[in-house]
Amino acid sequence: DINMENYKNKILVTGGAGYIGSHTCIALHEAGYEVVIYDNLSNSSFEAVNRVSSLIGQPIDFIEGDIRDADSLRQVFVAHRFFGVIHFAGLKAVGESVAKPLMYYDNNVSGTITLLKIMAEYEVKKLVFSSSATVYGDPEILPINEDSPRSCTNPYGQSKLTVEHVLEDLALSDNSWSLIPLRYFNPVGAHPSGQIGEDPNDIPNNLMPYISQVAVGKLDKLSIFGDDYATVDGTGVRDFIHVTDLAQGHVAALNYLKQQKQSLGFLPINLGSGKGTSVLELVRAFSAVSAKDIPFQFVGRRAGDIASCYASADKAQELLGWKASLSITDMCQDTWRWQSINPNGYNSI
Ligand code: NAD
Ligand code: WQD
Repeated sequence: DINMENYKNKILVTGGAGYIGSHTCIALHEAGYEVVIYDNLSNSSFEAVNRVSSLIGQPIDFIEGDIRDADSLRQVFVAHRFFGVIHFAGLKAVGESVAKPLMYYDNNVSGTITLLKIMAEYEVKKLVFSSSATVYGDPEILPINEDSPRSCTNPYGQSKLTVEHVLEDLALSDNSWSLIPLRYFNPVGAHPSGQIGEDPNDIPNNLMPYISQVAVGKLDKLSIFGDDYATVDGTGVRDFIHVTDLAQGHVAALNYLKQQKQSLGFLPINLGSGKGTSVLELVRAFSAVSAKDIPFQFVGRRAGDIASCYASADKAQELLGWKASLSITDMCQDTWRWQSINPNGYNSI
């Protein structure tokens, strides 16, 4: 049945105009999926959607709307029959979440609950959710596998962990759901075209965009938060993963969902490279790739930071047949291309 096959390819992508969502829309298109983006543009720009359309060579379905708006979501589910939902929409700045916890719980938790209710109403019961390695708190054992204990120290992380609990309870209540939280480690990099990438408002909170803005001359110097961690060189160690590898991980998760005859319940999966890289190692790699000096100073530790965090990526490999393939050099090269072509992000034109 052609219609049945067709609907199996249609995916609702909430937050699809954002950093990870925009890259994932391209990967989905390349894998033969049809994408409908739903985004309120609170942390993204319509220019990203335009560029995704140019890169895939055809217009992309875009609806401006909020995941907390049940009626607006309902209209989308009336207009389209979806195989499943990839749910990126949410707020992600840790510091801001401490200052504005209600805004974070409202967007990330209430918004997801509204989305799940509408999905249930329309019998769409497959979800891939953007979770985070932040749900592992300060890990006791490295690399971190999916059965590690979970705990959080800030409202952002707590909102992700709360959604995971909601998904677990939902799966227990009704065995027709397949709910896959993908726990991202540290996504960096940009599309190799240099046309889409991460475009932070204001001063970046995260390391890679900060480094690239120093390299391009927008910021004077990097402050490195702590030089006395028990790591290879005293600076924090993270598992950086190229955003296009991450995007492929979402395609792999959907392909896996398609293959299953039975529902999967709640199935968390790490998306990381499995390798740890220190802050100083990343600075050096970026400097080499960009041929720019990256001035830095050591300052005190940032509240809430941990020494080291990297994934066991075995479950993704075993279940999804996915693993990260791009190197730290690739991540730096693609970030640098995006940053140099678009020094002011999507406002550069
Ligand atoms: P992003 O801010 O670039 O993308 C999120 C998108 O969601 C934005 O386009 C924003 O406009 C949209 N959005 C926010 N609230 C919304 C709402 N109420 N209704 C509709 N749209 C809304 O962030 P990103 O880096 O692409 O992250 C995507 C997801 O992955 C987020 O849920 C984030 O928490 C999670 N995540 C990100 C990282 C990371 O380091 N980037 C790591 C782990 C998890
Ligand atoms: C990486 C390393 C810093 C900035 C955060 C969220 C996490 C997830 C990814 C969304 C650390 C150091 C950073 C700077 C620095 N986001 N650093 N100077 O903290 O691992 O993870 O983003 O889900 O939830 O917590 O990423 O890029 O902020 O920091 O020295 O200006 O770089 O101390 O060691 P983090 P990050």
